[in-house]
Amino acid sequence: MDFQLTDEQLAVQQAARDFAKKELLPGVIERDRNMIYPTDQVKQMCEMGFMGMMVSPDYGGGGMDTLSYVLALEELSKIDASAAVIMSVNNSLVCWGIDKYGTHEQKTKYLPKLTSGEWLGAFCLSEPEAGSDATSQHTTAIDHGDHYIVNGTKNWITNGGKASLHVVMAQSHSELRHRGINTLIIEKSWPGVSIGAKEDKLGIRASDTHSIMYNDVKVSKENRIGPDGFGFKYAMSTLDGGRIGIAAQALGIAAGAYELALRYAQERETFGKPIMHHQTIAFKLADMATEIEAARLLVYRAARIKDLGLDYSSIAAMAKLYASEVAMKHTVEAVQIHGGYGYVKEYHVERLMRDAKITQIYEGTSEIQRLVISRAILNGELYQPVSALWQ
Ligand code: CAA
Repeated sequence: MDFQLTDEQLAVQQAARDFAKKELLPGVIERDRNMIYPTDQVKQMCEMGFMGMMVSPDYGGGGMDTLSYVLALEELSKIDASAAVIMSVNNSLVCWGIDKYGTHEQKTKYLPKLTSGEWLGAFCLSEPEAGSDATSQHTTAIDHGDHYIVNGTKNWITNGGKASLHVVMAQSHSELRHRGINTLIIEKSWPGVSIGAKEDKLGIRASDTHSIMYNDVKVSKENRIGPDGFGFKYAMSTLDGGRIGIAAQALGIAAGAYELALRYAQERETFGKPIMHHQTIAFKLADMATEIEAARLLVYRAARIKDLGLDYSSIAAMAKLYASEVAMKHTVEAVQIHGGYGYVKEYHVERLMRDAKITQIYEGTSEIQRLVISRAILNGELYQPVSALWQ
């Protein structure tokens, strides 16, 4: 295993770090408090090439590897997890899937708009009654020869109010269950598309989350991604990569909270010395540093395995599971280290703690990640016992 980052990866990491400090940090508390979408910052992220990092340069993307994408997301998430999820959904759940499975016409028509920032994308899988159980789609896409008519409601859609393009999963042949689902590209401006009220969330409050309603929306078959009935596999395959992105977001949130807690512990004095010199605090920081580094190795490894073209479904689930649990646990610890200061908004750690929670929920809850991992173990895809050892 090679643990050295390339010059290009280091440059992406540094650019993201500088951008986060200079452009995301000012106003991040205000945006969180008042649910203000970071319009100017997203525009700058587009100019930096952060909105279509892994897309082929033929379609306006950066042609970068997954590890570079992860490094950028980690840095942004240390300061502003809302900006990070806007970027993550556009990259992993929208651009990557169209680039991988779309037709040349779909890529030519849509990817340059999505990578340049002219358009933002949303991934529309979840429904009021289909979250973890993603196969039970109630949204329908009825076949009318050369087009579909789409009806249904999607819930908790990141970028929901801002996105001009929706990647929508809908059931076309309910008797076939998940094999009857299609994925369609729908434009927000089309008749029958309407956007619900903005969600008032616990965390990532500057990101734009809505329900979306489709009422007799006519969608040409040219806008179906992949063959008839490929939609569920499309969603699962896209989410495998998305989970690496959310794992990187969780890692960044944890690392940001750790950096704040460390600085505070070195400055804050009690009983005549910095609290870092009290073992109760020092050991907390030791655990934080160790577990965050372990999460980092898992997240980078998932990215590397994807870049090598190997099967990354299980390692992506492991990375998301572990990094999000670490983020939740250690943002709580960062608040604890800050004491009363941690409980007020200006010290950032309470915001990071609220932001951490969603990483255990979206793009597959921690329970779903455990399901994916345990099924891989049962299927013999992971960690087979070396039989000779025990016989
Ligand atoms: N890649 C490709 N295909 C896959 C796959 C993968 N990773 N995982 C499963 N499949 C295929 C299977 O091969 C199977 O196909 P066949 O029957 O044709 O062989 C089919 O999909 C169904 O698979 P399962 O039998 O495993 O389906 P299941 O219902 O038992 O379980 C699940 C599937 C893992 C629980 C899945 O429903 C799941 O991941 N649920 C969580 C959904 C989720 O992550 N939602 C996130 C919403 S999006 C979001 O949060 C975005 C945002 O805004 C930030």
